[in-house]
Amino acid sequence: MSDRLAVDGGTPVRTAEWPSWPVWGKREEELLLEVLHSGKWGTLNGPKVIEFEGKFAAFQGAKYGVCVTGGTPSLELSLRALGIGPGDEVITSPYTFVATAGAIFKVGATPVFADVEPGTLNLDPACAEAAITSRTKALMPVHIGGCPANMDAINAVAKRHNLYVIEDACQAWGAEWNGQRVGPIGDLGGFSFQASKNINAGEGGIIVTNDPTLYERAWALHNVGRVPGVSRYEQNYMGYNYRMTEWQGAVLLAQLERLPQHIAKREENAAYLTELLEEIPGITPRTRDPHVTQHAWHLYMFFYDAQAFGGLSREEFIHLMGAEGVPCSPGYQPLYRSPGMRRAYAEQAGVLAPWQQDVGSLPQVVPCPVTEKACQETVWLSQSMLLAEKRDMEDIATAIRKIQLAKA
Ligand SMILES: Cc1ncc(COP(=O)(O)O)c(C=O)c1O
Repeated sequence: MSDRLAVDGGTPVRTAEWPSWPVWGKREEELLLEVLHSGKWGTLNGPKVIEFEGKFAAFQGAKYGVCVTGGTPSLELSLRALGIGPGDEVITSPYTFVATAGAIFKVGATPVFADVEPGTLNLDPACAEAAITSRTKALMPVHIGGCPANMDAINAVAKRHNLYVIEDACQAWGAEWNGQRVGPIGDLGGFSFQASKNINAGEGGIIVTNDPTLYERAWALHNVGRVPGVSRYEQNYMGYNYRMTEWQGAVLLAQLERLPQHIAKREENAAYLTELLEEIPGITPRTRDPHVTQHAWHLYMFFYDAQAFGGLSREEFIHLMGAEGVPCSPGYQPLYRSPGMRRAYAEQAGVLAPWQQDVGSLPQVVPCPVTEKACQETVWLSQSMLLAEKRDMEDIATAIRKIQLAKA
């Protein structure tokens, strides 16, 4: 390997492709063809979604599962199943994808952001507790990147204040906190099967719960208000059509069969990568709480300290890494800073009309300091890179060391 950086005409550390995503095979083909030939393409008359609901719920250690059209709808219907709506506050993490807060706005409730823990980047239970008001109805921890939040502490806060817990497990298929799979550790949990996700049907989601009443409500909400076992034209509630198709059910059944093997591979590669990165000054892998007995590794994250790289900015570092054949990205900005989010607050407060162009009146942001700092320092690697071979992890460390050598 030459010492000259690839951007300066040197040989890149890596020219081989990283594993592409999605991974699929004969099994997806077989099951999709079964759906095609059966003529049963919709959930109302087909068996695949029902089979997947049972299997995925069992996989997460839940009694019940309701497949829906996406992860965002899984969170929205979880909130609705708990009767959360206008006037209510839901405390969540600002280090997440916009959909976490979007689902809260969708039901007319208000997201309240509490800071994350410095090392794990998951909702800090103490900050969540400090954010509770008389309007708070629920906590919505996010298992960001597939790493479970501290569910013991979050459930304890919820119990002390009589709140519900909805897990945003949209990145956390198979993840475990203290031996228990996420999703049904709180009252309800939502998962996403959108195209980038580790189990993927293009789009889709599922709600899991152990509570029969919440299950019945979620089921009714996703299926135009029907009640399981009751005639198609009787509706006891006002529901919507959030049903998944049999095509998605078929693909997900095949993807679920492969998931345990993928989880094991990502765990093994991530552990090796962490070992390698821990030795590089200025690079700190994200903290994994010892209670995390299984990590889903939707994202591999590390903290980058520019000082150890001669002041090279994180953005420039990411650019150089890409040139060396190791694509990475800077990840989220604090969610409360997004103009869309601030607009949603202003609209909800009635100080901004929908689609109003003048956004001068957007509310001020109250920053969460740990999130602010983390958003300046984190670097992400995608889940599919962790499906490469163990020796490929060395390319990641080699590229970082090469840049450090050239710049520090
Ligand atoms: C943390 C988190 N929450 C919610 C969602 C929403 O899922 P979907 O895109 O399936 O609606 C996502 C998906 O990107 C996510 O990453």
